[in-house]
Amino acid sequence: MKIEEVQSTTKTQRIATHSHVKGLGLDESGAALQAAAGLVGQELAREAGGVVVDLIKSKKMAGRAILLAGPPGTGKTALALAMAQELGSKVPFCPMVGSEVFSTEIKKTEVLMENFRRAIGLRIKEVKEVYEGEVTELTPCETENPMGGYGKTVSHVIIGLKTAKGTKQLKLDPSIYESLQKEKVEVGDVIYIEANSGAVKRQGRSDTFATEFDLEAEEYVPLPKGDVHKKKEVIQDVTLHDLDVANARPQGGHDIMSMMGQLMKPKKTEITDKLRKEINKVVNKYIDQGVAELVPGVLFIDEVHMLDIECFTYLHRALESSLAPIVVFATNRGKCAIRGTDDITSPHGIPLDLLDRVMIIRTLPYSQDEMVQIIRIRAQTEGLQIDDESLALLGVTGAKSTLRYAIQLLTPASLLAKINGKDCINKDDVEEITELFYDAKSSAKILAEQGDKFMK
Ligand SMILES: Nc1ncnc2c1ncn2[C@@H]1O[C@H](COP(=O)(O)OP(=O)(O)OP(=O)(O)O)[C@@H](O)[C@H]1O
Ligand SMILES: [Mg+2]
Repeated sequence: MKIEEVQSTTKTQRIATHSHVKGLGLDESGAALQAAAGLVGQELAREAGGVVVDLIKSKKMAGRAILLAGPPGTGKTALALAMAQELGSKVPFCPMVGSEVFSTEIKKTEVLMENFRRAIGLRIKEVKEVYEGEVTELTPCETENPMGGYGKTVSHVIIGLKTAKGTKQLKLDPSIYESLQKEKVEVGDVIYIEANSGAVKRQGRSDTFATEFDLEAEEYVPLPKGDVHKKKEVIQDVTLHDLDVANARPQGGHDIMSMMGQLMKPKKTEITDKLRKEINKVVNKYIDQGVAELVPGVLFIDEVHMLDIECFTYLHRALESSLAPIVVFATNRGKCAIRGTDDITSPHGIPLDLLDRVMIIRTLPYSQDEMVQIIRIRAQTEGLQIDDESLALLGVTGAKSTLRYAIQLLTPASLLAKINGKDCINKDDVEEITELFYDAKSSAKILAEQGDKFMK
């Protein structure tokens, strides 16, 4: 099994509408603060989320399922993402939407299986020979291109590494320079370079560079102790899916012929059940030997009512397996038919036997004040200025239709304000914009009144 070259396949998330959510906003005792970490109200659900996070961290939750249930726009997705933030980057969190399973190319269960394995982490410990320290200098040395031509190439890199004990200057291969660039290493970062593979890992910024006003989410690490050149226990976090992909990729070198050979082949070779079984076997062996540790993460399935009976059955079985993550579902449906059945209705569109094993967290509608608070936070994150009167007005709109609709009005209102030559959104802009657009409810009302004018 290849471990050295395993690359992360973490999905990039579409969290633009939730970018203000930084965590669950709980105090030390686990009680929710009214407004903290970008979240407002919904205290009970947030506290429940905190309990789940604690259970996951203490590894008592694997193979269980949680359901976030509540009306649209009550913060289910936001809550799930807040839980992901609380879990930190070391615990895998894989978000997906129920409808993702429907594709003409891939089997539904295959999509589910892939996401299951994205949510199971493996922490591999290895003792490696490394060079570690704070970067004090980083100079690429150029020479004439040996292949001729006028260009110059990097012949080697001089890098200075400092630890509490001393400083060492290394002369490194140009290929390491590429890895250094990929990791965006700068002077003042703490890094280590693996002696065998030349792999570079940036651990964070040295804490001598920490400033009070740093807004960026930078991780500060202390100056390493001991020698620059040493044996170090290196910890690598991968997911089972990372391993699947790394082992399924067509093998080949970096010379031109094998590069060409890969062009015509499909990028993604099949990850077969057989391959997965093999990997599970190796993983289990590593776990038994104490080389690796299993880190069950979270699989978040939003809009779970979009799954059909086949998927539910599969999920039920997958939850029983020994390598299972915690599954968090979310839905805004009440009693409805289960997809893929003729007429079996069930609460939330989830079969009763599966529903029986989930713990349900309810999200409740927001009060008008809470909506105003949330809209204000959103305006701040989007960098929009808005006066109190307009905020109150949007709060009313939110209470009448939905929170999401009120939030969506922010950007058009700010555009309108700009057109009218203002920096700050005021009451007139909001009024004008609510006249221009309809929310779902008023549109439905118009349809009901003038239904005969529309095509059937
Ligand atoms: N308690 C909260 N604090 C701050 N922002 C919130 C809160 N609840 C929801 N929001 C924001 O309101 C918007 C709508 O919430 P969200 O998308 O989480 O609703 P949902 O329950 O997932 O709705 P749906 O059922 O339609 O998927 C998002 O931009 C979200 O970030
Ligand atoms: Mg949602």
